[in-house]
Amino acid sequence: MSDSRPIGVFDSGVGGLTVLREIRHQMPAEALIYLADLEHFPYGPRSQEQVRGLALDIIDMLAGMDTKLVVIACNTATAAALHVARERFDIPVVGVIAPGAQAAAAATRNSRVAVLSTEGTRASGEYVHAIREANPGIAVLSEVAADLVEIVEDGDADTPRADAALRPVLDRIFGWGADTLVLGCTHYPLLRPALQRVIGSRRLRVVDSADTTAARVRRIVAVNRIGAGEVPKPGPQPFAERTEILVTAAPSRFRENAARLFGEPLPDPRLVRPVRQGIRVAAGS
Ligand code: DGL
Repeated sequence: MSDSRPIGVFDSGVGGLTVLREIRHQMPAEALIYLADLEHFPYGPRSQEQVRGLALDIIDMLAGMDTKLVVIACNTATAAALHVARERFDIPVVGVIAPGAQAAAAATRNSRVAVLSTEGTRASGEYVHAIREANPGIAVLSEVAADLVEIVEDGDADTPRADAALRPVLDRIFGWGADTLVLGCTHYPLLRPALQRVIGSRRLRVVDSADTTAARVRRIVAVNRIGAGEVPKPGPQPFAERTEILVTAAPSRFRENAARLFGEPLPDPRLVRPVRQGIRVAAGS
């Protein structure tokens, strides 16, 4: 039996497309809905309570669109909302922190892992918990670089502006002796060319959660027997196939930036307004 309902994926902006791309690659038969909450971008500096409200409202909307599983393709929103979302919704909800932490624990050889994330993710302590759950012998350095998500969202991921923002952070990471860096924000894999330039000939394993998250989604879909069934041609699938894009603001900016970052056209984004229940709750009204 096959289940043709879509998988929902969301982030504050283009970053979660790094996860969507991997899901597309590993599960080419699945229909996908991607939502970018640009109205509230960036999530990083917001309080946990606020991000939780935003994320729950989006999951509510995606669940109402008959999705069979939702991926929180944002570390900041995973940290703030994953546990509550799993209690509240009766479809599987997958986050990106545990998969990223496991990838880092598997990659390190000297047991020193640096995590680069937004302020919200660092404040939650979720990466430290998840890495030390995977291996309690690993020491973790949590670093924040305030401007990086804006740099990516402004279309400057592969520019001297990105190099300049990364340089002091990487100096601290090398100074501390990490052999592995986990990109604890789904926007950061888009900075890989800049990271390569700044790392230069120094040795550092750079891991992110995109492929481990997609692998987790694939397992959950298989275990619950909710796969789409039909097997199209293997290999990378274009975004335009079986993908719907939703944004809460700035559709044309999103389309241009995403097409430039991923080097392929995306379907035209549709502007949506999730019902903002969570914000009212978070604001105490
Ligand atoms: N892509 C996001 C994350 O993984 C959020 C960035 C932001 O909106 O601050 O944390």
